Amino acid sequence: MQSSQNNTEAQAFLATTLHALQKAGLKRKLRDLEGAPGPRLTVDGRNVLLLCSNNYLGLATDERLKQAAHQAIEAFGCGATGSRLISGNLEPYRHLELELASLKGTEASLVFASGYQANTGTISALAGSRDAIFSDSLNHASLLDGCRLSRAETIFYNHCDVEDLERNLIAHPAARRKLILTESVFSMDGDLAPLKEIAFLANKYGAMLLVDEAHATGVFGPTGAGLVEALGLQQQVDIQMGTFSKALGSLGGYIAGSSDLISYLLHRARSFIFTTGLPPAVVAASAAALQIVRQEPQRRQALWNNVAHLQKGLEDLGFDLRPTQSQILPLRLGDAQRTMAACRFLLKQGVFVQGIRPPTVPLGTARLRVSLMATHSTDEIAEALAAFEKLQYALQTPKRLANRRPVTHLSASSF
Ligand SMILES: Cc1ncc(COP(=O)(O)O)c(C=O)c1O
Repeated sequence: MQSSQNNTEAQAFLATTLHALQKAGLKRKLRDLEGAPGPRLTVDGRNVLLLCSNNYLGLATDERLKQAAHQAIEAFGCGATGSRLISGNLEPYRHLELELASLKGTEASLVFASGYQANTGTISALAGSRDAIFSDSLNHASLLDGCRLSRAETIFYNHCDVEDLERNLIAHPAARRKLILTESVFSMDGDLAPLKEIAFLANKYGAMLLVDEAHATGVFGPTGAGLVEALGLQQQVDIQMGTFSKALGSLGGYIAGSSDLISYLLHRARSFIFTTGLPPAVVAASAAALQIVRQEPQRRQALWNNVAHLQKGLEDLGFDLRPTQSQILPLRLGDAQRTMAACRFLLKQGVFVQGIRPPTVPLGTARLRVSLMATHSTDEIAEALAAFEKLQYALQTPKRLANRRPVTHLSASSF
């Protein structure tokens, strides 16, 4: 009896929470996509232009990655079969880690199952209860969760504000170890961290510096190694973190740094130790992507050409894309309901741009996060701009936006 009473309370809690999310315009639902994630795909049975993918260089569908994955399946099978420390350290891992360290200009590197796990495992291994972590206030959830797991005192400095960072470093002289965390390209605003200044402060105050290059790897730097490479900071950044899941079109997180750092993580990073390695096919695809990134700078150029074209077009239409400095163009609308209405409106025009709402972004800053690929054609960008022009008109006449029926059978609660 008691358990059925508890069960009823649990059901009521779930229903109330979901209702509140729905009312606030924050209810989420997975959207069914069909086809490969190229510049176009099928959403709700309709062929649309994809403008919200992290497949920045178009590598997720590249034939060479597919071929590398097929070959690895033939040679090594489908699974790593165990933690890499116990039974899973297959040859593709060794190859990938050497290639990655070479690209990043570091002594060594370590591949994790995802970027999320690389961040949580590394931060919690490096900092403990007697330490202080200084984290940019807009850092990704995986960095934040690493802080939480570490039990270190976490100080959030104002976004990209080096003066505030320094004030906080001065205010915590007693911490046993200090660790500074920042993204290089911020995932939701597309702006760049002042890495030179942050690296200077890390050195001045004896802090370790972890830079998350999730959205910079493949995209920034002469060989695509990231913003750290672009700024010549390989020797100043202790921990270069990133992921194969975005511009590299595959899956898996990584840490690049000194041999001692990597050896230490093998002993202390729980998200590395207590999980099965990635399948060999995924690892081989990542290695193929690294090679392409190094050898084909024209892909980066094509991406930047597309960014310049779309950004200018959107700004000419009156959209404010600040503070972006990258391939991520944030179109802030503020209100979550309005943002999702704009998302539905664009979908009806044949353009898929996902709305991003709290808790992914701070309250009141919901936005359409437009992101580009090197493989979008000039015609496709023109097509996107035509849809955004209609959106701009609809935004200025709110009734038009509100009255838009969701595409096909979807209701507001579908988002
Ligand atoms: C800045 C940043 N760091 C880390 C991650 C996590 O990477 P992954 O998707 O490989 O887990 C992401 C991706 O969502 C990200 O945007």
